[in-house]
Amino acid sequence: MKRILTTLFLSCCLGGYAVQEADIHIIPKPIQLTQETGAFRLTPQTVISYTKGLQPQASYLQEILSASTGWDLTLQEGTENNDNVIQLSLNPEGNTPESYELSVRNAGVHIEGADAGGVFYGIQTLLQLFPAEVYSSVRQKDIEWEAPAVEVKDAPSHPWRGMMLDVARYFFDKDFVKKYIDMMAMYKMNKLQFHLIDDSGWRLEIKKYPKLTEIGAWAGKDQNRLGGYYTQEDIREIIEYAQVRNVEIIPEIEFPAHMLSAVSAYPWLSCHGEPREVPMQHFISRDLICVGKESSYQFLQDVLDETVSLFPSRYINIGGDEAVYDNWEKCPLCQKVMKENGLKKASELQGYLTNRVLQMMKEKNRTIIGWEEIIQRGKLDGQVVALIWHNEKDTIQAVEKNHLAILTPATHAYLDFPESKTPGEVKAATWMPPISIEKAYSLAAKDYSPSSHVLGVQGCLWSDQFIHGTILQEIVPLNENRSENYAEYLTFPRLLALAEVGWTKEANRSYKDFAQRLTSHYARLDEKGCNYRVPEPTIAKMDETAEGVTFTLTESVEGAPIRYTTDGSYPTIHSPLYTAPVKVDTKNNFRAITVVSNRHYSLPIYFAYDYAEYKQFGEFTAEWKPSIVPDKVTPWKIDATGKISGNGTYEVTFIQTNGANALKLNGIRVMKRDEVLEDIKEVQTVRKQHQVTYRFHVGSFEAGTPFTIETQIQGEGGNNTNGAVFIKKISE
Ligand code: ACM
Ligand code: ZN
Repeated sequence: MKRILTTLFLSCCLGGYAVQEADIHIIPKPIQLTQETGAFRLTPQTVISYTKGLQPQASYLQEILSASTGWDLTLQEGTENNDNVIQLSLNPEGNTPESYELSVRNAGVHIEGADAGGVFYGIQTLLQLFPAEVYSSVRQKDIEWEAPAVEVKDAPSHPWRGMMLDVARYFFDKDFVKKYIDMMAMYKMNKLQFHLIDDSGWRLEIKKYPKLTEIGAWAGKDQNRLGGYYTQEDIREIIEYAQVRNVEIIPEIEFPAHMLSAVSAYPWLSCHGEPREVPMQHFISRDLICVGKESSYQFLQDVLDETVSLFPSRYINIGGDEAVYDNWEKCPLCQKVMKENGLKKASELQGYLTNRVLQMMKEKNRTIIGWEEIIQRGKLDGQVVALIWHNEKDTIQAVEKNHLAILTPATHAYLDFPESKTPGEVKAATWMPPISIEKAYSLAAKDYSPSSHVLGVQGCLWSDQFIHGTILQEIVPLNENRSENYAEYLTFPRLLALAEVGWTKEANRSYKDFAQRLTSHYARLDEKGCNYRVPEPTIAKMDETAEGVTFTLTESVEGAPIRYTTDGSYPTIHSPLYTAPVKVDTKNNFRAITVVSNRHYSLPIYFAYDYAEYKQFGEFTAEWKPSIVPDKVTPWKIDATGKISGNGTYEVTFIQTNGANALKLNGIRVMKRDEVLEDIKEVQTVRKQHQVTYRFHVGSFEAGTPFTIETQIQGEGGNNTNGAVFIKKISE
């Protein structure tokens, strides 16, 4: 079922067409857009003309238009004064990088960019003015290929509008990487941080060290092995593809931590030299590169030499996050370096290492980027760029030390966190709360002064949740479980929010306005063949009275019907169609979904049970109800990931909220993935007015690792019992 798209409302007037203003929904929002009378109509005779240097952009536009219209439009170098021409030209004079002006009139289209990137962005804005089908890779019939007449003046507010793609934990193949770049470019994002190396895989062919990819790119054995890597030829192909789209690829070569894949290939890289294997599951290794051996520096020099010769970017990312220094503290060679350099803490060795690499990169005329840790481990001998990932306010550290910063706070920009906690949401990272579209959009990109220290913003898509292609869970509506679909589900539509944060000045942004424009972009993502999380319907109004609650909803996806239930059950595509406000007795009984197609619909609007009165027992973690309470002793696994948020002492409390029967608990086992952290055998019974608390300790916390509390339960004299489980941290 294809949704009915709101096409342009056309009314004939003298020599042209008038288009309703509401139909122009550009993301990211341009600085200035004025609607004029009329529209440009594409025909088989339309010519794309371009001035010198813009042939790649002209061919890009021709390819897109040919695929969807089926017309083989003429490409022509030079300036054209005739009608029915899309003219691409350059005007660098006095214009900021990547800026453009777009003029769409009945007679033709003119895009003038400050540079090729600006022209490319003018093309993106033009494509967003055409019907959504313009993005289709197959010929679309019976479409009026019209774009409303406008004058646009536009420029980015930040030079850095990035995404990080973690291809190390999960190997996304070359075609997926290209698709990801294409989608970024559609929304004027211009930097891809290519996370090529991590404990779980080395993805970049280095000719001088073939074992990095012969061994380090693979987990598991023989035909069951998982992983992969990019040859240098693949990399050149990806870079060329990205260049046309104004996307710069920044390679990330991680050290001193997160490089177990390299240590597995060449054990002499570590302090101890012992054999290691590429892990099959998420794991943060403590096997750092040894900073006491000259061979380590030679290795880095060689790897970076090949990296620099492959990637034209002036930036090289050296990772630098999450190093645990135990091995450096024990290693006589590392200790010797500490002494010789008067360093007091092993962590300062990371600063020492960064300075040595800084020198190597200076010689190559490259700027170092790294996670924020690189500016926190001792004084550096030059300016670097820090990716601020914990807390956006830490940007001030970069400002004070005269470094540059890119905002990528996990709270707003880590797209491996799901959008919601609604049951049925994809299983994804849980060590922080979910990030809604609105939360991502609320990232402030200009709070720090001098603002020139902040280059811009970057989203991060980590893939440790679907490491080596393990499947998180099926996305039921899609009947699809490939990790690529998860990656898109997690990335879209939030990428659009981050793209606007990076491009559009804060004073010119409003979430309400963005959300309104977003409704029409899902059709564009569909045409691009890009998966996305379908948004729940928007609650426009919720009137609560003594008799009940009345919901007024609006579409979150233009043209997509809303289906609802009033008994607390999850709606299906056959549930009643929403046409007018709906009244229910309690809001917990109301559910509504957005139906894009029979196979693609949203999770429901969902109000979780309010456990506010139990706040003192910590975070709500799980609940039991009669249907899960057995009459004989049965295991019950409680997912505590995200509730256990660091090392410390915790309490887990079981509280009965309803029912006549008590619940017997056969103790608890606290599990970090498969490892038993604590095994408490004490049998206890949860009754009304008698909650049960167990206390346990976590001393080896790792972000991203699942935690479970296993117990065994049995109803006492029946299963008529409801209750909830809470977890609270009581000390560090
Ligand atoms: C990070 O999330 N470890 C940079
Ligand atoms: Zn060492």
